Amino acid sequence: MTIFDDLKSHYASIKDRRIESMLDARRADDFSSQAGDMLFDYSKTNIDTDARDMLIGLLETTGVAARRDAMFAGEKINETEGRAVLHTALRNLDGGAVKVDGEDVIPAVRDTLARMEAFASDVREGRYTGQGGKITDVINIGIGGSDLGPAMAYRALAPYADGPRCHFVSNVDPADIAQILRSCDPATTLVIVASKTFTTIETMTNARTAKAWMSEQVTDPAAQFAALSTAMDKTAAFGIPASRVFGFEDWVGGRYSMWGPIGLSLMIAIGADAFRAFLRGGQAMDTHFRAAKWEENLPALLALVGIWHNQICGFATRAVLPYDNNLARLPAYLQQLEMESNGKGVSMDGADLPFESGPVVWGEPGTNGQHAFYQLIHQGTRVIPCEFLVAATGHDEGLHHQHQLLVANCLAQSEALMKGRTLDEARAKNADKFEGAELERQAAHRVFTGNRPSVTIAYPKLDPFMLGQIIALYEHRVFVEGVVLGINSYDQWGVELGKELATALQPIVEGKADATSKDGSTAQLVGFLRTNGL
Ligand code: F6P
Repeated sequence: MTIFDDLKSHYASIKDRRIESMLDARRADDFSSQAGDMLFDYSKTNIDTDARDMLIGLLETTGVAARRDAMFAGEKINETEGRAVLHTALRNLDGGAVKVDGEDVIPAVRDTLARMEAFASDVREGRYTGQGGKITDVINIGIGGSDLGPAMAYRALAPYADGPRCHFVSNVDPADIAQILRSCDPATTLVIVASKTFTTIETMTNARTAKAWMSEQVTDPAAQFAALSTAMDKTAAFGIPASRVFGFEDWVGGRYSMWGPIGLSLMIAIGADAFRAFLRGGQAMDTHFRAAKWEENLPALLALVGIWHNQICGFATRAVLPYDNNLARLPAYLQQLEMESNGKGVSMDGADLPFESGPVVWGEPGTNGQHAFYQLIHQGTRVIPCEFLVAATGHDEGLHHQHQLLVANCLAQSEALMKGRTLDEARAKNADKFEGAELERQAAHRVFTGNRPSVTIAYPKLDPFMLGQIIALYEHRVFVEGVVLGINSYDQWGVELGKELATALQPIVEGKADATSKDGSTAQLVGFLRTNGL
């Protein structure tokens, strides 16, 4: 019997126990933990002390601590690509040496950070200008990790943004870039091409479109371009001078890269000091992750709750529900972070995974979601564990009463999910409106099974430091889940097949080759679209 088997039989034995029946003040305290001023409460789950002990046993038997130390030390834990995993080095503002292949990477990291800070200040303060004067707009062209991180953080930290406006173009759909270009003046726009590889077809296509747009209006378009990449030869070939290229190494995974050069647009928007506060928040979570014992370790606990719900209880999806509208892009960001990292069907050694891979992650900010998909969360037949995020205060002091209403809604949702409403209660609540068989029928529609698990991450305010803590918390959660499941969280072979087939389809779509080599459905779709103007 493995610990997984033990956990499954334990779950089978407590499955119908009401969470509410366990939830006194002592449990709330015992089944929550704090890192700095962030509180993680997982008391509204069915995890009890026995389950928690077994889950922590998983951390021990799978060697999470040793793997964590290996990651921070720069060992090549991304085994399928032979790379270190060192995004933590990007936020290591005051730590010692970290070596990859015997070389300390920290001096270069700090040097690049200093160059980014100098450039960001030059842009913000008008020392670096466009050919029409001070930069008013920054367009970040990138996709996946070269877009989602800075786009999410720019939105999250909007109250701190006092620099040029930032726009994020990612989709190869021309509708994306066309709309943004229409809203900008090329003479005062800085275009940042963000691509780790500088080969991603969507990004390079959009970058060429932006260059053509710029060259219609300004004499030297390349002078208003910067690049963020690991591929210096390719940025030079695109015509971007080395002085405006901010490089990083292959030990920074795309979806973990916003702490370094990929964060340049964010830094220009919020300034170097606020960006450093963001890094310090990430670094604080690193320190916590390395030092806190498992019972108090937020990334470990968040990961274990995830494993409990997905691999043990069989709940296949997880809703991320920020009651913080500025975190509107967090679910999309987490979809890449979690699903590209842990959506794998084989273990590190190539054997089939003996349990489900990471969950489907989705969500929207509350309260909006309440008026859309919460119906299914409350009364649908599938259990969907929910993850609430909520701040004690917002940024609009004069509207604090509105923030209090937001918080009341957040807490009400987790309470409703847990408590539900029995048939008797539904009957009693509707006895004044209906009677007899009609009362029975109407009451049945108003029953909530309850006993639906949720966790809550609460914090004082979404400032740059807190955002850094939140993002690093999720990164380490993914790491812990990956180690426990035996997955390599740092490659993404699953995105390759579609890219290859898209390249092969391009001449067919353009009408330069016929579709006879394709399956009947694909050929039919090409035919339909070409008949209709493709
Ligand atoms: O196709 C997936 C992916 O490789 C992601 O992992 C990455 O974040 C994204 O594409 C963009 O890659 P790049 O930064 O190299 O353009």
